[in-house]
Amino acid sequence: MDLLIKPITKLNSVVSIPGDKSISHRSVMIGAIADGVTDIQNFLPGEDCLSTVRCIRQLGIEVNEITPSHLQVIGKRSTGWQEPENLLDVGNSGTTIRLLAGLLAGQDFFSILTGDDSIRKRPMARVAEPLRQMGAQVWGRHEGRYAPLAIRGGNLKGIHYTTPVASAQIKSALLLAGLFAQGETVVTEPAPSRDHTEKMLQAFGAYIETNGLTVVVKPSSLTARPIIVPGDISSAAFFLVAGAIIPGSSITVKNAGLNPTRTGILDVLAEMGARITIANEQESSGELMGDITVEGRALKGVVIAGDLIPRLIDEIPVLAVAGTVAEGHTIIKDAAELKVKESNRLNAIATELNRFGADIQESNDGLIIKGQRRFNGAVCNSYNDHRIAMACALMGLVASGQTIVKGAECIDISFPGFEQVLNSLRND
Ligand code: S3P
Repeated sequence: MDLLIKPITKLNSVVSIPGDKSISHRSVMIGAIADGVTDIQNFLPGEDCLSTVRCIRQLGIEVNEITPSHLQVIGKRSTGWQEPENLLDVGNSGTTIRLLAGLLAGQDFFSILTGDDSIRKRPMARVAEPLRQMGAQVWGRHEGRYAPLAIRGGNLKGIHYTTPVASAQIKSALLLAGLFAQGETVVTEPAPSRDHTEKMLQAFGAYIETNGLTVVVKPSSLTARPIIVPGDISSAAFFLVAGAIIPGSSITVKNAGLNPTRTGILDVLAEMGARITIANEQESSGELMGDITVEGRALKGVVIAGDLIPRLIDEIPVLAVAGTVAEGHTIIKDAAELKVKESNRLNAIATELNRFGADIQESNDGLIIKGQRRFNGAVCNSYNDHRIAMACALMGLVASGQTIVKGAECIDISFPGFEQVLNSLRND
């Protein structure tokens, strides 16, 4: 599908965004190992989270769809999951394959996880290896490093593990496996990654303790509880950046998640010169949320590096758009993880934004962006990567003429309805 974008000169809008992808995945998976019915409101009915629901159903768990964004999961901690009769297909979803690998490592049966072309190229040794250390049998292509992954779980023992990269997917896989292991499981990471798993497990009554960069989990019984999923700050990011890059604009995104492990984008936009305000802050199931307003002003280039990277890991493509219109250089470092996301995002975003007349060079672990003033609409590719497609669409808002994003159907992975929200900006 082609997405057609025309430039826009000023924005003054209030928008709503769908539920958080990370929290939606976790609500179904954790609900499935809890006792009782987990009622989930504002669930993200995006392709990735629907893959999680399909896999969980194949494991013998009932998931009732009251509406597409209101689910009820009938948990089976006490009676257990069933061995799936067929392959578990995670589609494009890294969170589904890695977190589910952790849960399946704890189950006394055989299962196979697979996914699309992109998933089968993404590194899986990062979860397979520590799960083997815990006692699970995990096989995969290329000496166990790539999906499909075959898992024979059960009889786990807790381990102390230091992750090689700050990754919530690795940390969460091990914490979820740790619920089924003997003794405690201790995970230490090099920098803080998103902590939604810890927060939700705690809310469901698990024994979980965080001390700096280390998290400890012990086998625990979980009790279902209702979840209201906050709006996804990673989806909000596209509209926050839209407000920031068009001087004189103001955009408010309602009910966006404000978990501090995810709000790096707000810190960066403020440092670049945008005015950010937060209103109606509240807590829901241990997660902060609120309305974020961004007022656009002339932006200046910044350095984005170090511990900030995991706090905005999924926002780097859209921050590259902000860097492109900012005065001076924006340097992104310590972001080599972007090469192993849904696409090689460093290469994809540099290649695609340069089609508009941007000046972006790839480095070995980031981007060097020289801000420009004038851009021409372009025909760009999505690489079948939702965040690349949406970042290109955003660039089209500040480029003259028309922009076409090819392969834009992948946007449904995380943001069904993106085009409608984008079009609504023109009517306000
Ligand atoms: C996610 C963690 C991040 C992020 C991904 C979602 C999660 O991946 O990029 O979109 O839900 O745990 P990594 O853990 O690989 O950094």
